Amino acid sequence: MTRISALQKARAAYQPKLPPALSNGANITTREGAATTSVADSERISKLFKATFGSPVVTFEKDAAGAAGKALTVGVILSGGQAPGGHNVIAGLFDGLKSINADSRLYGFLRGPDGLIKNEYLELSGEIIDAYRNTGGFDMIGSGRTKLETAEAFELSRKHCEALGITSLVVIGGDDSNTNACLLAEYYKNNDIPINVIGCPKTIDGDLKNEQIEASFGFDTACRVYSELIGNIERDANSAKKYWHFIKLMGRSASHIALECALQTQANIAIISEEVAERKMTIGEIVEDIARVVVKRAANGDNFGVALIPEGLVEFIPEMKSLIAELNDMLAAEALLFGQIIDPDEKIQFINSHLGKDSSFTFSSLPHGIQLQLCLDRDPHGNVQVSLIETEKMLAEMVALRLKELKAEGKYTGKFTTQTHFFGYEGRCAAPSNYDADYCYSLGYTASALIGNGKTAYMSSVRNTTKAASEWTCGGIPITMMLNMERRHGKDKPVIRKALVKLDGAPFLEFVSRRKQWSIATEYVYPGPIQYFGPGEVCDQVTKTLELEKN
Ligand code: FBP
Repeated sequence: MTRISALQKARAAYQPKLPPALSNGANITTREGAATTSVADSERISKLFKATFGSPVVTFEKDAAGAAGKALTVGVILSGGQAPGGHNVIAGLFDGLKSINADSRLYGFLRGPDGLIKNEYLELSGEIIDAYRNTGGFDMIGSGRTKLETAEAFELSRKHCEALGITSLVVIGGDDSNTNACLLAEYYKNNDIPINVIGCPKTIDGDLKNEQIEASFGFDTACRVYSELIGNIERDANSAKKYWHFIKLMGRSASHIALECALQTQANIAIISEEVAERKMTIGEIVEDIARVVVKRAANGDNFGVALIPEGLVEFIPEMKSLIAELNDMLAAEALLFGQIIDPDEKIQFINSHLGKDSSFTFSSLPHGIQLQLCLDRDPHGNVQVSLIETEKMLAEMVALRLKELKAEGKYTGKFTTQTHFFGYEGRCAAPSNYDADYCYSLGYTASALIGNGKTAYMSSVRNTTKAASEWTCGGIPITMMLNMERRHGKDKPVIRKALVKLDGAPFLEFVSRRKQWSIATEYVYPGPIQYFGPGEVCDQVTKTLELEKN
């Protein structure tokens, strides 16, 4: 028998809370709103989604008299990066389907969309589900980043679903996976294929949210894990008083994680990529800003500090963005020649000789290690893999050089010794916090109700989550409502709009109003580890981001 930890054992017994509408199993009343439109480009989106565009928002309400529905056969896929709570979405879906009809069946496709295309699956029994309740990770069925977007993949998915008798598919993923879920739903409906598709909002990055979707699951837990670690480091820094810690935090694009962790821990510095882009800051200016704080703290005798750096930063610095775009094109065009070069210095020389003047200047100003990291393999879409670029080391090195200059000019007399960290994978599979355990279970359960109601191209939605679960509401949002047209790889594509940090939003404004004070004074907050058992004010907190956004 597999050994499980004491916490896992105790946590297995946790019964996630549900919105009142779902607490009576399948007995719900469905309310439908008016026809909807998309967030932008509605004319073009409506033409691309003729079969699914304009559906109403659906809300569920409790009903004592509902009757059991017919047995349903459903498939589920986990797509993209891991996020705490994924197993609870599946558990909620399973329980919801069983509440509709005890003979309902649930198949999990293995390793993400790949399993659907290759027909690799596992029927999920009650025993399997029970072993994964309230656990982190996606290991129940695995996840993957293969994109479901071609007609060929759609046809294979149809064939494999039909063979199993599957009439609904649940895609648990981020903005791109949910966009593709909508394309798949449209394809099925347009071709009279009786398979419905429902999406669930997942990503620790927190960038799948909008007017209708309050949060993507996993953000809460991941930020709590990182904030615990940052708090521990702050306490160490404040005890030893000898290191500046540069901490890179995951979040491929948006800086929601860095912002949330800054609000939770009151670190001395937090860079927010969206602000960098808005102010068109150069790397030199970012380095100067950090050096200024280091100098001021040193003047107070504080030769230590903590700086938070969002993972996606390099792509938000205008000069780096141009450099990366030029590098991507150049490396794609010269892949053969470049692939034959082994010597790192020759690689750098090759790149420099193929870049335009401005990009070559930016490239040359970067530390050697970062130059090499920028040459690493691209992801399947030709993008730089930002989690492999050590921005934290780059900034630590560049700030050290700047401080040397300031010392020579007699403007700085302190000591600057750095430690660098990258927190990302540490948080993605943590045991879900109560918030994520409850939210995910409710998202899955809501998905089953949408399926029971024959809905397609909807995203499961659970709202009012800053309040007690007894006040949560739930239903479905047509995915077409979230779409707009964006330029991707030279083509206009319908995509769910990514939610970047809003510079006029309450979380960022709160940070701006406090950051000067936090940078000079040492006002660290130590959040400590996630608490799963104990008083509600400790165990059932919501993120500062959500709290500020909602209040
Ligand atoms: P998703 O958008 O799929 O949820 O993944 C987000 C993320 O965790 C980013 O924060 C990070 O940049 C990326 O995944 C890392 O990807 P990989 O798991 O492929 O290394």
